[in-house]
Amino acid sequence: MSAKTGIPRRHFLVGSVATAGVAALGGLSPFRFAIGNTAPVKVGILLPYSGTYAMLGESITNGLKMRIGQAGGKLGGRGVEYIALDSEMSVPKAPTNTNKLIKKEKVDFLVGPVHSGIAAAMAKIIGPRGTPLMLVPNAGNNDITGSLCAPNIFRTSFSNWQPAFPGGKVMADDGHKRCVTISWKYRAGIQMMAAGRENFEAHGGEVIKDIQVPFPNVEFQAYLSEIAAIKPDAVFSFFSGGGAVKFVKDYAAAGLKANIPLYGPGFLTEGVAEAQGAAAEGIKTTLHYAADLGNEANRRFRAEYQRAFGKPANVFSVQGYDTGSLMVRSMEAVAGDAGATRDLIAFLEGVEVADSPRGAWKMSRAHNPIQDIYLRQVQNGQHRVLGVVAEDLEDPAEGCSMG
Ligand code: BEZ
Repeated sequence: MSAKTGIPRRHFLVGSVATAGVAALGGLSPFRFAIGNTAPVKVGILLPYSGTYAMLGESITNGLKMRIGQAGGKLGGRGVEYIALDSEMSVPKAPTNTNKLIKKEKVDFLVGPVHSGIAAAMAKIIGPRGTPLMLVPNAGNNDITGSLCAPNIFRTSFSNWQPAFPGGKVMADDGHKRCVTISWKYRAGIQMMAAGRENFEAHGGEVIKDIQVPFPNVEFQAYLSEIAAIKPDAVFSFFSGGGAVKFVKDYAAAGLKANIPLYGPGFLTEGVAEAQGAAAEGIKTTLHYAADLGNEANRRFRAEYQRAFGKPANVFSVQGYDTGSLMVRSMEAVAGDAGATRDLIAFLEGVEVADSPRGAWKMSRAHNPIQDIYLRQVQNGQHRVLGVVAEDLEDPAEGCSMG
């Protein structure tokens, strides 16, 4: 039994870190902020509001604004001005969009993105400048808290490795030996499939075919015919948003669901299980959140989100909410001085989020959440937690020399 969540620990726990307290405010320098500066804090947002990831962008924005709204709509006593751009999931447009927010709008915080490729393009601009603070509320690109890690870049979501790695052992433990992986062909899909494969093969499985679908294509028929011909024991997959709805429905319609179980990081069904309907029933996934987590923070968060937006919360809104929490708390710590970059960084490096709907987590040396990963299953259209498959899982942060 996990002392933290009260959820039964599966026998395949991965990794463990001590939960020693962290001196969040130790060593902060005296504030330089001119008392009386009431100008709003500028929050730049670069998220998808169109296309296959539109639901993700909207959910993150809702969660972020809800948390700042709970703090009276203020950061460190100052009002907030949001400047949101639609990323259109375009990597080529990412440098222009980023520069628009940091050079033209001169934002104090930059929140985004969803897409791993855009995250790398943004980090290559933001990291070397040292300012502003970039808070990544989704994009899992391992490199952001690996080879591209930087003092002013923090992630509040996950690395692509984190939810995928435990999934490989879940498939092996379910008795599967031969598996096909299928995902979109870009950093997120490639890194998640590699992580799942690593752990599946470490536990006696074999990936016999890796299928990569150009992003954001949703024409799956030819790939599904190929899977039917190969007849693997299981399929491990990454899709999200609109693409996940289409893939899971097409998979069932192709007659594969009954004989070849589908697994993957939880994005496959998260926020879309209702739209997938019967096609999603029984799918097991691994993720750092599940709707039915019994902690009080989650219950309150879900009720308030439903009231505010008329729809259920999901992992993306949790990530937005926790991003808002970090902004509220760090700006309180510097009494509203958004220019106190060193002090904001010092605060965030020591931060522990005890009241997250996902369960308590803390920041790693590479600025990525150290968090529990849950095994979930869609049952009667809802995600049910089957257990904790990795407690306090920390990304390996390959290539990051911080900390
Ligand atoms: C990514 O591109 O990093 C990503 C997109 C959607 C869900 C999860 C990860």
